[in-house]
Amino acid sequence: MDSTTFITLVLRWAHVLAAIVAMGGLVFARYGLVPALSDIDATTRDRIHESIRRRWLPWVIGAITVLLASGLANFLLFNARVKADPEFWGATWMRDSSYHALFGAKFLLALVVFYFASGLVGRGEGTQWIRNDRAKWLSVTLGLALAIVLLSGWMRQLHTGPNAQLTNAPVPPGARP
Ligand code: HEM
Repeated sequence: MDSTTFITLVLRWAHVLAAIVAMGGLVFARYGLVPALSDIDATTRDRIHESIRRRWLPWVIGAITVLLASGLANFLLFNARVKADPEFWGATWMRDSSYHALFGAKFLLALVVFYFASGLVGRGEGTQWIRNDRAKWLSVTLGLALAIVLLSGWMRQLHTGPNAQLTNAPVPPGARP
C-alpha cells in the first residue's frame, strides 16, 4: 500500500470512528440516559448530569475536531483527485454530480449538530435553553446527524458506484467499472 492510500485510509478510519462516537453518544443519551433519569428527583438528576457532562465533554470536543479536520482533508483530497484527471472524470463531473451542493448541505448541517452537541454538554447561560429540554433537542440533533450520514453515503456512492453489479445500469460518472 503506498503512503497516499494509507493516509486516506487513516483519514477514513478517523472520520468514521469520530462519527460513531458522536452519534452513539446522542442515541444513548436520548433513548437510555434521559428516560432512565426522568423519574429521579431533580437534585440527584442534575448532579448525575453534571458528573457525566465533565467526563463526556472531552469526547465531544475530540469528535468535533477529528470530524472537521478529517472531513476537510477528505474533501480537498477528493477535489484534487478529480481535477488531476479530467480525462477520466470529465471536465464537469463535480457540477453534473452535485457533489459540491451535497457537501455544502452536509457541512451546514454538521455545524448545527456541533452547536447542539456542544450546548448539550456545555454550561454557558447562552445554551441553557438546550439543556432545559434535553429530550427534544437531543431528538432534533439526532435527526440532523442521521441526515448527515445519509448525505455522506450518497456522496460516496456518487464516485464509487453501487456495491452490487447491476445489469444494464449506467455506470455513475467517474466510477471505475
Ligand atoms: C456529525 C458530523 C458528521 C458525520 C456524522 C459524518 C459522517 C460521515 C460518514 C458516515 C461518511 C462516510 C465515510 C465512508 O464511507 O468512508 C462521511 C464521509 C465524508 N465526510 Fe463526514 N461526517 C460528519 C462531519 C463532516 C464534516 C464537518 C466534514 C467536512 C468538513 C465532512 C466531510 C466528509 C467528506 C468529504 C466525506 C467523504 C465523502 C465521499 O466519500 O465522497 N464530514 N462522513
